[in-house]
Amino acid sequence: MKDNTAKENAVKKAYIRKPLIVGNWKMNKDHLESLNYMQKLFWNLQDKRFDFSKIDLCILPPFTSIRSVQLLVDSDNIPIFYGAQDVSDSLDGPYTGDISAQFLKKLGVTFSLVGHSERRRYHDETVKTIIGKLKMSLQLGITPILCVGSVNADDDSSIDQQIDYALMQVSKALTFLQGFGFENIVIAYEPVSAIGRGTTVDPNDIDIMTASIRNCIEYQASKKAAQNIRILYGGSVDSKNAASILELENVDGLLVGGASLDWEEFSRIALISEKLVSEKFIPEKLISEK
Ligand code: PGA
Repeated sequence: MKDNTAKENAVKKAYIRKPLIVGNWKMNKDHLESLNYMQKLFWNLQDKRFDFSKIDLCILPPFTSIRSVQLLVDSDNIPIFYGAQDVSDSLDGPYTGDISAQFLKKLGVTFSLVGHSERRRYHDETVKTIIGKLKMSLQLGITPILCVGSVNADDDSSIDQQIDYALMQVSKALTFLQGFGFENIVIAYEPVSAIGRGTTVDPNDIDIMTASIRNCIEYQASKKAAQNIRILYGGSVDSKNAASILELENVDGLLVGGASLDWEEFSRIALISEKLVSEKFIPEKLISEK
């Protein structure tokens, strides 16, 4: 019964938001490996006639590779975005090891990942720190991808607990980001129980969670914000399950960890996503005409 609901939604789906497929490399690939990967990814997608206007692709390399990726992307006009896996909640000052959003902006970074469960688990990030990171990103014109979901970074909470917690996170973000351009954030539902485990969570749970997040945005912010904000799913995404997740009504993209480390697998995910949306994609401008 539950399965049917997700499938029916999928059939009805039209892509009114441009899908965003993000590769989170985590602590992998030095600057030379990053260059090699980016070239191969781009050449392969070009060869396969990937339509870059249909899907936004973004890679999140480690900080030490961002400058190299920037030089390559700029010199070869590669239409792939890149971003940072974290950002400081301070602009500058005595914060050893932290990276300022203003430095990232100078490196042409488009996206910043904020509040990933691995940051919460290993660096004790609190909701307050996360809000600070969101604000700093938006102030500098970087689009934050806010990760929400599991209650604690190291537990397997139930879907109901996850929804309550995720809505609290979204709600706080919307409240504290008033005046900071909150409608420009991206939200990623990332259940800890699926990260790096090789199996995604039940598509119906993804469906319920992403619909709840969008309802929360509509209720607390506006219908327009709810229509514009992209909601991603992350947790053991690969080329075998990408299509079935991307078909869910409120999923606008994927946050891919392990499977993004291989440029061929990430290309496959990009190509599958493009094929899926190409017939049903409604250009963004139509949103405002509704
Ligand atoms: P995974 O990681 O795809 O390896 O599960 C996802 C993430 O943590 O962003």
